[in-house]
Amino acid sequence: MSPLPSTAAPHSADLIVFGGTGDLSMRKLLPALYHADRDGRLAPETRVIALSRGGLTDADFRGKVDAEVRGAGTVPAGDPEGWRRFLLRLHHVSLDVTGGDGPEAAGWSAVRELLAGQEERDRIFYLASPPMTFGPFCRQAHRAGLVTPRSRVVLEKPLGRDLASAQGINDEVGEIFEESQIFRIDHYLGKETVQNLLVLRFANAFLEPIWNSLWIDHVQITAAETVGTPGRRGYYDHAGALRDMVQNHLLQLLCLVAMEPPSRNDRESIRDEKVKVLQSLRPITGSEVDRFTVRGQYSAAPGMPGYLDEPASTPPTELSHRVETFAAIRAEVKNWRWAGVPFYLRTGKRLPSRRSEIVVQFKDVPHSIFAGGTPNRLVLRLQPSEGIHLHIMAKEPGAGEVALRPVPLSLSFAQTFASRVPDAYERLLMDVMAGNPTLFMRRDEVEAAWQWIDPILSTWESYGTPPEPYPAGSYGPPSAHELLARSGRAWHEEELA
Ligand code: BG6
Repeated sequence: MSPLPSTAAPHSADLIVFGGTGDLSMRKLLPALYHADRDGRLAPETRVIALSRGGLTDADFRGKVDAEVRGAGTVPAGDPEGWRRFLLRLHHVSLDVTGGDGPEAAGWSAVRELLAGQEERDRIFYLASPPMTFGPFCRQAHRAGLVTPRSRVVLEKPLGRDLASAQGINDEVGEIFEESQIFRIDHYLGKETVQNLLVLRFANAFLEPIWNSLWIDHVQITAAETVGTPGRRGYYDHAGALRDMVQNHLLQLLCLVAMEPPSRNDRESIRDEKVKVLQSLRPITGSEVDRFTVRGQYSAAPGMPGYLDEPASTPPTELSHRVETFAAIRAEVKNWRWAGVPFYLRTGKRLPSRRSEIVVQFKDVPHSIFAGGTPNRLVLRLQPSEGIHLHIMAKEPGAGEVALRPVPLSLSFAQTFASRVPDAYERLLMDVMAGNPTLFMRRDEVEAAWQWIDPILSTWESYGTPPEPYPAGSYGPPSAHELLARSGRAWHEEELA
């Protein structure tokens, strides 16, 4: 985990956001920057320069941000003066990187003009654009003479479609930027509970001795979403749940649960340990793909459209019929600590609740003297209601026969720390500005994750058949239940039901 936020005065920076008028920018980046500004964490001269094909002036862009960001309620209404000051930091330049690599190609000279004489500032190129633009953008920025020693580049996911394309992108970006200047973002790593997982494991003595296959039966990692994919089919048809969520967010969570204690809290030690976990994942290939993975696609249910009926600018294609909106996998980490402990990963769109959590299911007591006990369970809730819940057995009050009941020992972050929980992007943007890459993915991590995902992806793609349907608003297809039921286990919510 990165050190606590520095109290030193923030550096002046130019944050150049390619794709700066897009959804991510409006929903996440700009609100995060505004909050940082409000907390005094942006230097007075820091600017945000949005690049897009939009043909907007600074005033148009500020008006758009005012309407879309303030309109969406992601920034508080009670700070009109602060908001006005924030808007003045914003600039827009029209740029098209698809028109060849010449330095004068559509817009670079305007970017150069804006950045002239500011070489001493931190210069952060944030690529909130499709991965195929990463290489051309970096090359063109370099040819335009804009990459300074104080430059960094932030790459949004997805980083490629498979191992080979990820390597290609890493090579292209690596020709222009040193690895230490490249920040590959996975916003799950910026979530409060995710960082708290490291603190829970490595700043408390009581868990580590039982954090292994002797005491833990299995681990469940769920990222459930109620939203579907309206208006996103163009992206989602080519991505699917495995690329969109599992290859990055879920595998990162698995790494943090499974990693060995690092020797130091610095930029490389934690990442070194995470890579070792990814490299220890048992490959799932051939006929095992059928046994250990599940893919589903939501179908229409009362009041909810199916994936193929979601509003989109184009009708469904062959790809739309085959793409998965739900994925579940039984993974195994092949090392001494975790031998025989399944890690169940699951994510899906249009599930019944929005819930991201890690459930660590402990084994039963070796010998029970009471009837009716259930094993302990540790639930790390990432969202909503961030917190940690340890389910322990307690005696129901009353005379007569001892009756047991599982009760949670609960820590709610909102109640315990009565402060605003910053959005993951806020934390990560401040880390980029401070030059701290600890919470970002190193090249070898991303590639190790693809290496494990690739055989599953290619086997799924070779099927040529649609994924198993599940009604929108349900917890995925029946096979997801069977994946655990085969070994007498159940997903967390099934056990609570
Ligand atoms: C993104 C995916 O990376 O994460 C989206 O592309 C998904 O499809 C989102 O909805 C989920 O993030 P969060 O923070 O809402 O869990």
